[in-house]
Amino acid sequence: MQEQTGRLVCRDVGKVYSTGTVALSKVNIDIPTKGIFALIGRNGAGKTTLVRILATELMSSSGTALINGADVIKDPKKVREFIAVVPQESRLLMWTTPRQMIVAYLLYRGFSYVNAKNRAAEVLKTVNIGKYADVQSQHLSGGTKRKALIATVLASEASMLFLDEPTTGLDPISRAELWNLLNKLKKDHFIFLTTHYLEEAERLADQIGIIENGKLLNIGTLDELRAHVKYDFSLTIFDNKARIKPRAGRIVTGLDGNRQILTTQKEANRIAKELIRKGTRFSTSPVSLEQIFYFIVKRSINEETEEKDEW
Ligand SMILES: Nc1ncnc2c1ncn2[C@@H]1O[C@H](COP(=O)(O)OP(=O)(O)O)[C@@H](O)[C@H]1O
Ligand SMILES: [Mg+2]
Repeated sequence: MQEQTGRLVCRDVGKVYSTGTVALSKVNIDIPTKGIFALIGRNGAGKTTLVRILATELMSSSGTALINGADVIKDPKKVREFIAVVPQESRLLMWTTPRQMIVAYLLYRGFSYVNAKNRAAEVLKTVNIGKYADVQSQHLSGGTKRKALIATVLASEASMLFLDEPTTGLDPISRAELWNLLNKLKKDHFIFLTTHYLEEAERLADQIGIIENGKLLNIGTLDELRAHVKYDFSLTIFDNKARIKPRAGRIVTGLDGNRQILTTQKEANRIAKELIRKGTRFSTSPVSLEQIFYFIVKRSINEETEEKDEW
């Protein structure tokens, strides 16, 4: 296969577990190894399985995958030289401190003790947890523990980081702090992250892949994904009594209980003028990743059950 420097390529990657579960089928990806790639999907969609295959931890059942030209199945040693992974639900050992964890990890990766110690001090500063460097992990908050795990892989000097659900279960402030950190790191690392927080992918990712039931349904930038949605504009109306009849699109009830009209930009403009005339409060914006995700996943489910849904 041709050298593909600077790209992550999956060709028809499939995985069937020994239990018979088809976790991935014919996954095709071809993206630059730059910035942040977010793989989004519901629980059980196949995110972790794909991460484990790319991180050379699990054999695929079919297909090939290359990272920067190195084959994850045939040449895992080469791949491991430039990747580092924080698996889903990884934890710091209760009695260890962030500094001890990082040094131990680096020794395992072949660093000398002096280099490991210096490097640990450096990354603890980078992720801004210097003051917790010598606190046992049992006394650290969830956010600090996650940062310590990211510091660990960062210390390895790997140029690509695989982070499987790095923010799941964190409070909103810790999550925002981690987003800042990832934004900082993406300048000189490729970050492959998985999440089911769609807002996270929307804010962070340069490229987004949508996975459902083992199939990669779509991949692209937010705007490219939005182009798959027929009604790519959303209008939220803050007055439940207002009577509006869109000429195109559909009316849905948002999570906040307000009515939303999903429609074309042109129709949104027309309705907006009408609402302004009536003095009705509203807001309008391109549809969010949440709406795009919902549409793309629902369409795929409907295709399988052959139901029609007019979006
Ligand atoms: N080790 C395993 N053995 C058997 N089935 C598994 C294993 N790991 C995951 N699965 C199954 O494979 C599917 C995909 O799981 P996973 O990759 O963990 O999804 P996600 O990370 O998106 O939640 C699920 O149906 C899950 O139950
Ligand atoms: Mg998972």
